[in-house]
Parts: sequence; structure tokens; C-alpha cells
Amino acid sequence: MILITGGAGFIGSNIAEALLKKGESVRILDNFSTGTRKNLPGSSSRLEIMEGDIRDMDTCRRAARGVDYVLHHAALTSIPRSVEDPLLNNEINITGTLNMLVAARDAGVTRLIFASSCAVYGDTTAPGSRRHRKENNRPLTEKTKPSPLSPYAVSKVVGEEYCRLFSELYHLNTIALRYFNVFGPRQDPASEYAAVIPKFIATLLRRRQPTIYGDGNQTRDFIFIDDVVRANLLACTAENAAGKVFNVACGRRVNLHELLHELRKILKVNITPIHEEARPGDIRHSWADISHAEKFLGFVPVCSLHHGLSRTAKWLKK
Ligand SMILES: NC(=O)c1ccc[n+]([C@@H]2O[C@H](COP(=O)([O-])OP(=O)(O)OC[C@H]3O[C@@H](n4cnc5c(N)ncnc54)[C@H](O)[C@@H]3O)[C@@H](O)[C@H]2O)c1
Repeated sequence: MILITGGAGFIGSNIAEALLKKGESVRILDNFSTGTRKNLPGSSSRLEIMEGDIRDMDTCRRAARGVDYVLHHAALTSIPRSVEDPLLNNEINITGTLNMLVAARDAGVTRLIFASSCAVYGDTTAPGSRRHRKENNRPLTEKTKPSPLSPYAVSKVVGEEYCRLFSELYHLNTIALRYFNVFGPRQDPASEYAAVIPKFIATLLRRRQPTIYGDGNQTRDFIFIDDVVRANLLACTAENAAGKVFNVACGRRVNLHELLHELRKILKVNITPIHEEARPGDIRHSWADISHAEKFLGFVPVCSLHHGLSRTAKWLKK
């Protein structure tokens, strides 16, 4: 049995679908705050849905009972929300994660995978930042010192540290995956905090002009959801990976002009963007070194940006 916390959300529901297709039994624990029942794979005798909150220890213990692997994805996922309400962020992302670790330890779970984030790195490439000159032209490795800029990022650093500590102190096998910019079907374009890809696609489909904040030369390391699902499956079984942290990305940077160019080709539209002032706090460049994940997890991303964007656009059109 595999438990996916946050399994009704974007990433969790895609992992659930893949596991069910492989014949695994899946339990989903979700409070449906941002996730929806619509995301859940159709009815299956191997799918169990628990509506509940990771802030409640008893719920976590019930969810972890009889489970082999925990894929811990439940979280408050919005950086601006975490800035508005750091206490709520702390309760869900730190206390909730600790609850799941204790429940997994006590239930004798084989391994817990923690969904971390590239937000832990902060902005190593901002002009004027201490690390700007040194690191602007190098991808981020797991050895780069975390420099969180939001309560959300702090909570991911703390979650990773708890995972490492639980490996060392209690021999609970844990792995943290630092996702970069994940995109794909089921990512919500309507959310106030939507990510750039679903937002751009939804805007272009309505024949409107997408907004680029700043000069558009900022870069991101986008990774398609299918590759993230594969990283999770590999992380469940990889040997010699316990207690470690891994970047999960494509290892390639794409700027917003290139992204828009690709989307215009796929959607066959010729719409130009509106430019607005750069938003304070936006990270300039984000680019991962993924050699550690390749070495220990055997992870190599296989989905091209074009393929991923086409699949996402097709889903959003529906
Ligand atoms: N999407 C990305 O690009 C990205 C990047 C880095 C890290 N992550 C991490 O991956 C994980 C999944 O993100 P996502 O993009 O699928 O977000 P999402 O919001 O779609 O999924 C999160 C899920 O957790 C559930 N949830 C929230 N609070 C809960 C609580 N207290 N108890 C139980 N369930 C709760 C939500 O209802 C939702 O289904 C998160 O931990 C997120 O921080 C995502």
C-alpha cells in the first residue's frame, strides 16, 4: 500500500494515477483545500480516499497504518499565501510534515519521500546579491547553501532537515526531492497563485495577451509532470539514497520569451505579451544540476519541453 498525502492535488493525483496503472494499491490523504475530487483517478478497488488533515496526529496515524511507502505531498503550496499567513504555513508544512514522519516511523513504513522545493535556494542570481557573480552561470547543486526567502521556503528546509534527522535518529528511510518548476495536466490555471505555464496557455487560449513581469529574460528549469512521477517511483526503490536530498528538474534553463515562442507555435496564435514592472521577490534565474539524482536514483528526464507543453495545452483545451 502506498500513501500519497496531498493526493488530490496536481502532482499527487498524477502519481496516484501512475501507481494505479502499475497495479499498486493507493491511499490518498487530503483535506481538499486546493486539491479536488475531479483530479482523482476513476473508481478503483485499489484506491482508498481519506478526507483528513495532516495537522491532526490521529489522522496521520490512521493514514500510515499498513503502508509501505509514504509520498508526502500535502502542503500549503503558495509562496504569497505563506507570506500572508506564516503561522498557517508553519502548522501545515512543518507540524504536518513532522506528524507524518512520526506516524510513518511508528507504523514501520519502509520509506517516506518528501516533496521539497527549489524555493529553498532563494535567489542566488539576483543582480547585487552576494552570490550573484559567482553563481550566475552555474546550475544549483544540492551542496548550494539554502537561503530561503519566504516562510514556505523555510518550511521546506525544515522538512528536509527533519527527514534527514529521522533517517539518522530513528532509521526511518527518507528521501527529499527538490522539485523545480513542475507543469502538466491538472495544474490549476485559475488559482490566484497559478504558475506561469498554465497561466500563459489559458490566456492564449482565450486569445488574450499574457503578461510578462520584467524583461522576460528570467529563466526557469521547467519539468513535465511525467518526469516528476518517474522520479518518485525511482525514489521509492533506489538503494543508497536514504537521508539524501535530490534536485528534480530538467537541467536546462528556458526564458519566458522562449517559453512564449514555443506556446505560440503549439497553439498556432500570434499574440504578443504585455510587459509590466518586475515583481518584488521574483527570482531571476533558476537552473538545476541533476547529476546527483542521476547517480543515486537513476533519474534522467525524458520529456521534451515541446511534448510537455503540447500535452498541457491539450488538457487545458478540454
Ligand atoms: N507544483 C510545483 O511546481 C512544485 C514545486 C516545488 C514543490 N512542490 C511541492 O509538491 C507538493 C505538491 O504540490 P502541487 O503543485 O501538487 O500542489 P497542490 O496544491 O495541487 O497539492 C497539494 C495538495 O495538498 C492538499 N493539502 C493542503 N493542505 C493539507 C492539509 N493540511 N492536510 C491534508 N491535505 C492538504 C491540498 O488539498 C492539495 O490536494 C507540495 O508539497 C509542494 O510544495 C510543487
